Parts: sequence; C-alpha cells; structure tokens
Amino acid sequence: MNAYSVLCDTLQKKPSRWLVTGAAGFIGSNLLEHLLRLRQTVTGIDNFLTGYQKNLDMVRDLVGPDAWGRFTFIEGDIRDMDTCHAVCANVDHVLHEAALGSVPRSIDDPILSNSCNITGFINMLVAARDARVKSFVYAASSSTYGDSPELPKMEDVIGRPLSPYAVTKYVDELYADVFARCYGFAGTGLRYFNVFGQRQDSYSTYAAVIPQWFASLLKQEPVYVNGDGETSRDFCYIGNVVQANLLASFAGEENRNKIYNVAFGQRTTLNELFDLIREEVACHLPEAGTAVAEYRDFRAGDVRHSLADISRAKILLGYEPRYDVREGLRLAGDWYVANL
Ligand SMILES: NC(=O)c1ccc[n+]([C@@H]2O[C@H](COP(=O)([O-])OP(=O)(O)OC[C@H]3O[C@@H](n4cnc5c(N)ncnc54)[C@H](O)[C@@H]3O)[C@@H](O)[C@H]2O)c1
Repeated sequence: MNAYSVLCDTLQKKPSRWLVTGAAGFIGSNLLEHLLRLRQTVTGIDNFLTGYQKNLDMVRDLVGPDAWGRFTFIEGDIRDMDTCHAVCANVDHVLHEAALGSVPRSIDDPILSNSCNITGFINMLVAARDARVKSFVYAASSSTYGDSPELPKMEDVIGRPLSPYAVTKYVDELYADVFARCYGFAGTGLRYFNVFGQRQDSYSTYAAVIPQWFASLLKQEPVYVNGDGETSRDFCYIGNVVQANLLASFAGEENRNKIYNVAFGQRTTLNELFDLIREEVACHLPEAGTAVAEYRDFRAGDVRHSLADISRAKILLGYEPRYDVREGLRLAGDWYVANL
C-alpha cells in the first residue's frame, strides 16, 4: 500500500474536522466530495463569485444523505475577518482554495484579484493561526514561476511574475513563510499546474482551456488556440490534486512551511491537447472527429512552457500522481458529455 492509500484508510477510521474554502468552486468541490466519501466532517465557505450552488448540489447527490449530513456550508466572504474566524472555529485542517483564478481576469481587474487573493489569504492565515488548527494547506500556483526559462520547474527557482494573478499567489507564499517565522504557524503551499477535471467551469469568459475546448467541441463551435499551439503545459487531473492536499495536511512538522509542485510531471502542447480532446469527444459525437482548431494571437501574461519537477512532493509527501493527461481527459470527458 502506498502512503496515500494508508492515509485514506486511517482517515476512514479516525475522522477529522476540515474547512474547505472555495468549496463551491472546481477544486474545492472535488476536495469536499472526497473528504465526505472518507467519512470526514467538513465546513465549506464560498461567496459564489466564481463558484456555483450546482457544484454543491452535485456533491450532495454523489455522496448521499449520510455523508452530506456531515457538511456545513457557510455562504460568506474571506475578505471579512469575522467570517474567517467563525469558519475556523473547531477545525483540525484547513484546505484554502478560495481565490480569484485566471490570469486574464486579474489583468482586467487587478484590485478584485488582490482583495480576494491577498487580503482574503492573510485573513485566513490569521484566523487559522488563532484557531490553532493542525494544518493549513493552501492553493499556490505555477504562475509564480513567471518568466523563469528553467525547465522543469523546481520550487526554489522562480522568475518575475507576468500578471497580477501571479503576484497575488507569490505574495501568499511570502505571507505563509513569514507567519511560520513570526508566529510559528506553518502553512504548506501547493503550486498547482493547470488542473482539470469534473466541475471545472466551462461557461465563464475566463474558462481554462480544457473545459473551453470540451464545451466548444460538444456544441460544435469553433475551437481557438492562442498562439501557434506549441505552447506547453503540465496538465494535472483533479484526482492528483486531491491526493496532494490530503498528504500535505498530514505532512510531518519538518515538511510543512514548504512549497510543493503539484502536477503530473509531463508536458503536453496545446496542439497535442487538442488532438486528445477531439479524440475523446469523437467517442461520443463522431462529427467532432473532423473539427479543426483556429489559431489566434498569443495571450498577454501567458508563459510559453511549463513542466513541473515533482520530486519534492514525491519524496517528502509520498505523492504518487495516479492519473496521466489521457486518463484524466477520459474521466473529465465523460463528465462534460453528461453535463454540458
Ligand atoms: N484550476 C487551476 O488550474 C489552478 C492552478 C493554480 C492554482 N489554482 C488555485 O486553486 C484555487 C481553486 O481554483 P479553482 O480552479 O477551483 O477555481 P474556482 O474559481 O472554481 O474556485 C474558487 C472558489 O473560490 C470562491 N471565492 C473566490 N473569492 C472568494 C472570497 N473572497 N470569499 C469566498 N469565496 C471566494 C469562488 O466563488 C470559487 O467557488 C484558487 O486559489 C486558484 O488560484 C488553480
């Protein structure tokens, strides 16, 4: 049995109390689903800025009434300190996901991204510290690597941020580090690399590439590629991200106050991704098999290539990503077909 299976086994026998911020969002709702399946007690908070009630409804239907009975939802905003204190009370572990994602959104409205991602973040750090929670694991981002040309990306070598979003996520890491020094309160940052999977938003103008392309192909609308299609990313299926969060929550003292890359550790170009998604959709909708991508300008703030070195998470957390891009796209594809 690997570290993750052992942990899941232990959790089932000895439930803990969790707080998931951003619980109505894509990653938050997947963490919620998994925790409830593992018989945990969970509080969730979300202000529905980019999350949806339907995500919570789906989790309710998937886990059943018993598990759902162990969930408390608070509609609230992490920019409000009192709310943060209230949701952190009587909690063992915090998984902090609430933030405004998307590089283009932050370029359009840097003030809003700053308030949710930095003010909201420090509020949560203070509240979690005051509540003396056992662990605080937060969503960091691969955007922190900025203009660093190094490949694969290793946690200690970063460049200059390329967007307001990247600045916010880097500031979060700095605050977490300072809280460890000043207050002895150690947070663990997970630098996610292009996460995808069930319940990722395909409707928003700021939707990520994978849900956007699934939606376009299923609706037989044009699929746009920003740039020449040779831009590459380390796309990471949500199941791997759930695993990293749980392992990080139980990391030993010496492995907290650290940053970990969370990815699969493989690079896929947008052209390759398009072929994979088209193949997937064509299994359900044969007409999609002949779809052709339309190329347009590169997008401001985007990095050209991204690939993670995941050895730190493997060695120190016991992280073993189970789902590669193809398997993840198959699982996500089934969901998009059923739900779009
Ligand atoms: N999806 C990715 O590829 C990716 C990559 C790197 C980092 N991240 C980070 O992971 C986290 C989760 O991202 P996601 O993809 O699930 O996005 P998401 O937009 O689906 O989820 C974020 C959730 O946070 C909520 N939220 C935002 N501001 C809030 C506030 N002030 N108070 C309360 N709730 C608030 C939103 O309503 C939403 O439900 C974010 O911190 C994001 O920056 C995501």
